[in-house]
Amino acid sequence: MNSAELKELTDEVVVALGAATDDDAVEALRIKYLGRKGILPALMKGMKDVDPSERAAMGIAANELKNAVTDGVAKRKDELAAMNDSEEVSSGFDCSLPGRWHGLGSMHPITMVIEEAIRIFGKLGFVVAEGPDVETHYNNFEALNTPPHHPSQDERDTFWLHTGELLRTQTSPVQIRTMNEQKPPVRIITPGRCYRRDTTDATHSANFHQIEGLYIEAERKVSLADLKSTMAYFAKEMMGDNVEVRFRPHFFPFTEPSVECDFTCHVCGGDGCRVCKQSGWIEIAGAGMVDPRVLERVGYDPETTTGFAFGMGIERIAMIKYGINDIRHLYENDMRFLAQF
Ligand code: PHE
Repeated sequence: MNSAELKELTDEVVVALGAATDDDAVEALRIKYLGRKGILPALMKGMKDVDPSERAAMGIAANELKNAVTDGVAKRKDELAAMNDSEEVSSGFDCSLPGRWHGLGSMHPITMVIEEAIRIFGKLGFVVAEGPDVETHYNNFEALNTPPHHPSQDERDTFWLHTGELLRTQTSPVQIRTMNEQKPPVRIITPGRCYRRDTTDATHSANFHQIEGLYIEAERKVSLADLKSTMAYFAKEMMGDNVEVRFRPHFFPFTEPSVECDFTCHVCGGDGCRVCKQSGWIEIAGAGMVDPRVLERVGYDPETTTGFAFGMGIERIAMIKYGINDIRHLYENDMRFLAQF
């Protein structure tokens, strides 16, 4: 090989390196020329046999080839790395772009009412108790003094499970669970889901929420006045000072006497609308003085023990508090609706 041929070889290497598409190809070229058994070491070895007149030119050309390979390899590796980075950009990822705004979440109106109720009753000394959604017939009906022929026990009103258990139709079974476990005094509220085979419309849903309250004393006589003042206090704290509360006589198997408690409708301000069925009032809770037969069943002495209980519909409260005119909005998860809260 003479020095002119060596120069040609150098040009070839530069072209080959420029055509290499990955690091492995670049490395293979480096080994082919600079490796221990490569072209350049062989050239150097043969230098002593070169005609002395050619030797200087050969030395220079060999040096140029060496530099061309060394520099070319480094340069091509940098180029390939830069190309990889820009491929990431075209695949849609660019860590230098500003982040996308997802908007902040907010609490669901049902959750807000529950949290507010816990806060309000907490100030009166009530603590939160919980029970399961799947209940026994005993806790949901029998222990609550509900006779088998009572309409709430109707097969068509309750979701029954194959096990003979049921989806609780009310949060009242938590009264039984709590009293079975502790002695008076009792001051609990229990927010939770309830299930009834209701046909869904603007004010009914097969799955809804209640807050049960239970207040029991053995040392002091609890009266209907305690119940009324508790409900009135809750109404004003939850809805504001303008709300009016009224009590109507009613019947529940587990309270005697029993009442229903209505709040004035905040959607229409009491004038009458679809939500309050034109009456200006919304039925919020069932309540009453705990029936002695219930106290007896949980092993309390009905002679000395007195108390009241209530069960409120959380959806109803949310609807009048936030002016929601259809209960279905609360379950449809339409972001345009939920984003208002
Ligand atoms: N559990 C009753 C209902 O769902 C409400 C209620 C609770 C009534 C506690 C009286 C006492 O309708």
